[in-house]
Amino acid sequence: MDIQIITGDITSLDVDAIVNAANRTLLGGGGVDGAIHRAAGPRLLQACRAIPEVSPGVRCPTGEARITPGFALTARYVIHTVGPVWQGGDNGEPELLASCHAQSLSLATEYDLDAIAFPAISCGIYGYPPELASRVALRSLRDASEGGPRRVLVCCFSDAMADIWRDALNEA
Ligand code: APR
Repeated sequence: MDIQIITGDITSLDVDAIVNAANRTLLGGGGVDGAIHRAAGPRLLQACRAIPEVSPGVRCPTGEARITPGFALTARYVIHTVGPVWQGGDNGEPELLASCHAQSLSLATEYDLDAIAFPAISCGIYGYPPELASRVALRSLRDASEGGPRRVLVCCFSDAMADIWRDALNEA
């Protein structure tokens, strides 16, 4: 698996799937979730609504992932995952964030996808410190079993964020 850190708008990437930092309703939101829904068009919301609820109002529990077509996006698929809200780090946040990456990769493997792009999951509205999130995420990507996507991009929305992720990538 080749992991690259880039700066840009994830909705513009020509990859097989982009990962969405969603919330448990899968009905859209702000941040990258809002950008992906805007770029994919209204059919994405329709597809998300069709995903069965596992409990009232919850289509994707924190740490899990669901896949839909990408519709108007260049990417064929959107993998929606729900990161943990940062609560200080002693409430299972690292394990849940690792699970987001592992579950997204296993969906990409199931769909035989070659290239996938992640945003900095939970590093925005959910408040996860990027210095910590990047190390958890990259460790989870590296621990993934063989046979998954050949190319993994982490698409940061600023150079400052990309520098943090690059430091983490070069550390290990
Ligand atoms: N491309 C790439 N990255 C982006 C883009 C974009 N177009 N827009 C925002 N980002 C970055 C943010 O700058 C941040 O670094 O994505 C990262 C994740 O931030 P959020 O989108 O706020 O996601 P998160 O912190 O996981 O919070 C999820 O926000 O939008 C709502 O519905 C979503 O409730 C959920 C919550």
